Amino acid sequence: MQRIRVNAASSSYDVVVAGGCIERAAEEIQAVSGSRRIFVIADEGALAVLGDRLERSLAALNPTLFPIRLGEERKRLAVVEELAERMHRAGADRSAVVVTFGGGIAGDLGGFVAASYMRGVSFVQIPTTLLAQVDASVGGKTGVNLSSGKNLIGAFHQPLLVLIDPQTLATLPAQEYRAGLFEVIKHGIIWSPELFQVLEDQRDAVIAREPTVLEKIVADSVRIKASVVSEDERESGLRRILNYGHTLGHGLEAETGYRRLLHGEAVGWGMIAAGRLAESLGMFSATDRARAEQLILAYGPLPDLAGVDPAAVAARIHGDKKTIGGKVHFVLPTAIGKVEVIVNPAADKVLAATQAAFDVVARTAAAQ
Ligand SMILES: NC(=O)c1ccc[n+]([C@@H]2O[C@H](COP(=O)([O-])OP(=O)(O)OC[C@H]3O[C@@H](n4cnc5c(N)ncnc54)[C@H](O)[C@@H]3O)[C@@H](O)[C@H]2O)c1
Ligand SMILES: [Zn+2]
Repeated sequence: MQRIRVNAASSSYDVVVAGGCIERAAEEIQAVSGSRRIFVIADEGALAVLGDRLERSLAALNPTLFPIRLGEERKRLAVVEELAERMHRAGADRSAVVVTFGGGIAGDLGGFVAASYMRGVSFVQIPTTLLAQVDASVGGKTGVNLSSGKNLIGAFHQPLLVLIDPQTLATLPAQEYRAGLFEVIKHGIIWSPELFQVLEDQRDAVIAREPTVLEKIVADSVRIKASVVSEDERESGLRRILNYGHTLGHGLEAETGYRRLLHGEAVGWGMIAAGRLAESLGMFSATDRARAEQLILAYGPLPDLAGVDPAAVAARIHGDKKTIGGKVHFVLPTAIGKVEVIVNPAADKVLAATQAAFDVVARTAAAQ
């Protein structure tokens, strides 16, 4: 079992990473919440596969359970209101503790309910997708979508506790699991040559979700994200490095209407493009670039991009939410485990790198 401390400026809390820890959820939650009432906001998809275990493990806390159908189109203020009404009818007051259960959508939306209900109540996250375990559940970003863009309404609200049981990933569809692995690879490239090497050396065990290696890569990822957000809770500096692969990745997601790729897959592709850009700027050696690219492709395949226009993807970076004052920040690797933030790299180089990443995906698809 690993207990990782997040020391954000606004509060500190533990992230517990342990196979089977969902069975001990009641004790862990009681240790931080005392005798306060518990309201569980739970994704129906996660409940379908894990509901029995969750209900058994929380029974001692006598929780009020709100199952809810979720999905990106349901990550909206209307659903926040619906849940807040349900909480109020069930008697939740300012001492309520919200427990979110499910993927990143349950965590972001349930976390935002907690951030806003009665101007803020405590919450605990129990993430059940790989993306949510290694990324969304740590760092305190909560929120919902607008029709004009993702995550445009939200708040920073740190949880009291995050409980991560990697064994809950056993039922995750293969494509969702692989998509989450691209965020793990991201952590290796931006921060940890050691994690990178584990992903290289133990690729088959990782893909097979072998419990020991799975717990290791999840805990390493959490430790990296915890270090970053402990230093920069509100993304004014260091936290930006977590956007590696996301600038062009977001462009690709937007250009394909969020339908052709999962977020993690777009990040996988975006990391290839960023690696190419870093190499063309003379920051990243051809050897390291090739090594990073090989690792990403080893966890593929990335979805086919036939018919998508590279120039349109590259042009999208100017509309990205993370573009501040017209400045595009690119996180670019300088070695495996090290990145730098570059502002406004030359447009022709960005376009060439985008084109090169398209070619890599097309070549890989043709070879299969
Ligand atoms: N707050 C942050 O810092 C942050 C970071 C990254 C992503 N996000 C957000 O996370 C969201 C995506 O999260 P996600 O990829 O987890 O999607 P998700 O929450 O939609 O979950 C994916 C699917 O897996 C199902 N599921 C959940 N647990 C399961 C399990 N154990 N077994 C089988 N199926 C299971 C869900 O029902 C759903 O159908 C996006 O909205 C994104 O904006 C937030
Ligand atoms: Zn991401």
